Amino acid sequence: MSEILSLKNAAVVVTGSTGFIGSHLIDYLVGHGCTIHALVRETSDQRWLNKSDQVKVHVVDFAKSSSISCLEKADYLFHCAGLTKAKTRDDYFCGNVFSCEVLYERCVAIGSNLNAIVHLSSLAAAGPSVQGEAVQEKDPCNPVTYYGESKLAGERIALKYSSLLPIVIIRPPVVYGPREENFFVYLKTLSQGWNIKIGTTRRELSLVYVTDLVRAMVRAAVCYPKNEKIYYVTDGEHHIWNDISDSAMKILNVRAKALFIPKVLLAFLSSISEVLAWFGPKPALFDRQRVIDICQTSWIASPKSFFESHDFQPKYNLAKGLKETIDWGKKNNWL
Ligand SMILES: NC(=O)c1ccc[n+]([C@@H]2O[C@H](COP(=O)([O-])OP(=O)(O)OC[C@H]3O[C@@H](n4cnc5c(N)ncnc54)[C@H](OP(=O)(O)O)[C@@H]3O)[C@@H](O)[C@H]2O)c1
Repeated sequence: MSEILSLKNAAVVVTGSTGFIGSHLIDYLVGHGCTIHALVRETSDQRWLNKSDQVKVHVVDFAKSSSISCLEKADYLFHCAGLTKAKTRDDYFCGNVFSCEVLYERCVAIGSNLNAIVHLSSLAAAGPSVQGEAVQEKDPCNPVTYYGESKLAGERIALKYSSLLPIVIIRPPVVYGPREENFFVYLKTLSQGWNIKIGTTRRELSLVYVTDLVRAMVRAAVCYPKNEKIYYVTDGEHHIWNDISDSAMKILNVRAKALFIPKVLLAFLSSISEVLAWFGPKPALFDRQRVIDICQTSWIASPKSFFESHDFQPKYNLAKGLKETIDWGKKNNWL
């Protein structure tokens, strides 16, 4: 199936269009000749939003009863809006569950003629894996953080509407690439000569480079329907943190010193940063929920089902993805 043929002149609605993944998706769609209806909030920082004439901006707040008229004539909807950081469990649920209900309820009410809706969930919805065993779509879900719980609850809303709407759910693991702040904090620390490690346990994880995720999301949309409603998309490899740091240090041309941080110190530091953030407008970049997440020994998922059913292969391995990310970081003074 050729994305190029299916997408040319298609009308596409993107939520979360100002975010990391949404903004990369829009860049890709612009390059494929689509008209994009980018949903933003009044307060959204639009610095990453593509400035092409093909991108029409609509201010929509899911928390208010604003209409989403661009859905009426849309061919595809990509639901990328979501909260990856929040101060409370309620905030996560408001951002990742309530917004899905509002959006899909409006699609039904409008009687939209969408060919496909891609709902962006997360591996966090399923929870961590057992070491050495990649989770598959059929495995039971055991989220361990508020974020994971809220992403699972969001999926349940999507599944509830899937009898009325053409919804497919994608669960990415950690997504990295230009514009993603958390990963750059890690790269910056390495570039400054420190390789931070959590305890001495071997930790494994799946990753996907943002451009490959975006290609996969588009493939899921144009190939809809397939047999399953939920798919994992990763770069197809299992990584351990040592491989990531070694590869990044090689590209950065630094030899960083290992700095082992015990879990108890991590818990203490995260509590302090959480208290400090409580008095500010933004949630902490590093809080106790994040500690639960990074202290798991395995976050591995199998993308086999997606790759086979959608005839998909990632174009970026770790070295290539890291090189592009680091080059971008240097060019934009993030490193
Ligand atoms: N990044 C990853 O590693 C990763 C991995 C797995 C899954 N995901 C999922 O992918 C999606 C996008 O993540 P991201 O990394 O691109 O996050 P991001 O950079 O924080 O962007 C989130 C986007 O969602 C919008 N948004 C948040 N709450 C909203 C609300 N209530 N109403 C309308 N818009 C809202 C934000 O708008 P504002 O600019 O106005 O805040 C922003 O445009 C999320 O659903 C996330 O759970 C991400």
